Amino acid sequence: MVSLCSVAAVVLTIAVSYSCSSAQEEPPVVSRIAFGSCANQSAPQPIWDAIINFKPQVFLWLGDNIYGDFRHPFKLFGKERTIGPWKNVPRFSPTSEHEMQHKYQIAKANPGYSRLRENTKVIGTWDDHDYGLNDAGKEFPRKVINQKLMLDFLDEPQDSPRRKQAGVYASYTFGPEGKQIKVILLDTRYHRDPLASDGSILGSSQWKWLEEELNAPATAITVIGSSIQVISNFSATTGPILQVESWGRFPKERTRLFNLLADSKREAVFFISGDVHFGEIARYDCATEYPVYDVTSSGLTQAVEKAVPAPLHLVVRFLAWLTPTTMRVMGKSCRYRSCTYGKPNFGTIEINWETTPPELKLEVRDENGLPVTGVNISLSQLQVTKKESNEKSNGGKYQKHCSLEVDLPWIARYRLAILFFGAAAVLLLALIGLLYAVAFFCMQCLHKHKLD
Ligand SMILES: *[C@@H]1O[C@H](CO)[C@@H](O)[C@H](O)[C@H]1NC(C)=O
Ligand SMILES: *[C@@H]1O[C@H](CO)[C@@H](O)[C@H](O)[C@H]1NC(C)=O
Ligand SMILES: *[C@@H]1O[C@H](CO)[C@@H](O)[C@H](O)[C@H]1NC(C)=O
Repeated sequence: MVSLCSVAAVVLTIAVSYSCSSAQEEPPVVSRIAFGSCANQSAPQPIWDAIINFKPQVFLWLGDNIYGDFRHPFKLFGKERTIGPWKNVPRFSPTSEHEMQHKYQIAKANPGYSRLRENTKVIGTWDDHDYGLNDAGKEFPRKVINQKLMLDFLDEPQDSPRRKQAGVYASYTFGPEGKQIKVILLDTRYHRDPLASDGSILGSSQWKWLEEELNAPATAITVIGSSIQVISNFSATTGPILQVESWGRFPKERTRLFNLLADSKREAVFFISGDVHFGEIARYDCATEYPVYDVTSSGLTQAVEKAVPAPLHLVVRFLAWLTPTTMRVMGKSCRYRSCTYGKPNFGTIEINWETTPPELKLEVRDENGLPVTGVNISLSQLQVTKKESNEKSNGGKYQKHCSLEVDLPWIARYRLAILFFGAAAVLLLALIGLLYAVAFFCMQCLHKHKLD
């Protein structure tokens, strides 16, 4: 490039040489970003091949980048019991600094991931298992040392301010003027109040920072990475059987986030998230003046269908389809009817800068790189409308993505729990019936023997 520039400067006019040198300084246009979460460093990670084939310019880790904590085996009986009312050992416990470091080394040495890093800028945030403990928040004492280990894994420069602050939140801007993409990565761990407290997720210092970031000069696109889901409130329809973490579990904090977004008037903002061990795309139309998307990809290795034996995969898919949702984007292009995907997956963001206005393609992709759910959005759809009355009031499509899961009629909302407890009750009755029958039969037998 340098020799080309100097030749051009000599031969051509000043204007040409000027554009040449300015082209040199200009950051490259970014049009391909991939992201993922939940990667077990000790398991095979074949998905990197598909990610590399996608040719991302940037890869974002959204947490559970390693499984740093120790998971005790499921045990109902014995000396160490991890489930049941008589449990005496927590299901997860933290590991030593040395062990965390060792796990990061394994993750970093993965051949696929190493190959990705050759040509792709890698950035990221964390979730609970790489923070050091399942579902942990601000109370977790190892957070300071684990922050250092995580930033080492991401090759954060030694003098980076990110190493001095409390938490791993960060922001990046890619691309040249007019085609800039801002990436904001949140830390949903370091300052998080206990679950069910309806307290804070981000903490006051991070809130202040986020407010400044959102009110900073406009960029064509802004991606906010949150380890936990922002839009979907899965627990609202799977509780009390299953609870997952999400912004929905902290309703006040979630409202604050949406208000901040709306007040900033920032356009073309969307979320990406991980954590839940399946992929989906959700949309909420009442957060700000335009629809806000949340593309969830989880996980790179950890996925719900992999957690059960193959014959039960269909059951998992059936339950996914049965679980009601008000936010998920349903479409004909989804691989499954539920529009969720419970096998290993990664997320992709593609921007076609050639069209006016530019177009955004958001997808969740499988281990072969094929899309399993996706949306195409023109940037003109993600604008703050000038007029006060917007489309919210005028029709089906918008109405649909404004109602919360908790507002569903209870029979729909608790469908899964009804099925679960109904099935459990039937099984229990059947068991009692069987025992009774056996007892009755034995009595008859005994009676008969006595008589003989
Ligand atoms: C990670 O993978 C290893 C090897 O397959 C397995 O033993 C371990 O239980 C897995 N850990 C998690 C958290 O799934
Ligand atoms: C999400 O679901 C939980 C559990 O049902 C509920 O307490 C919470 O209020 C819900 N949040 C929102 C924003 O609907
Ligand atoms: C998005 O557009 C692509 C063409 O670029 C098309 O193949 C794909 O099916 C579209 N996806 C959806 C969800 O409409």
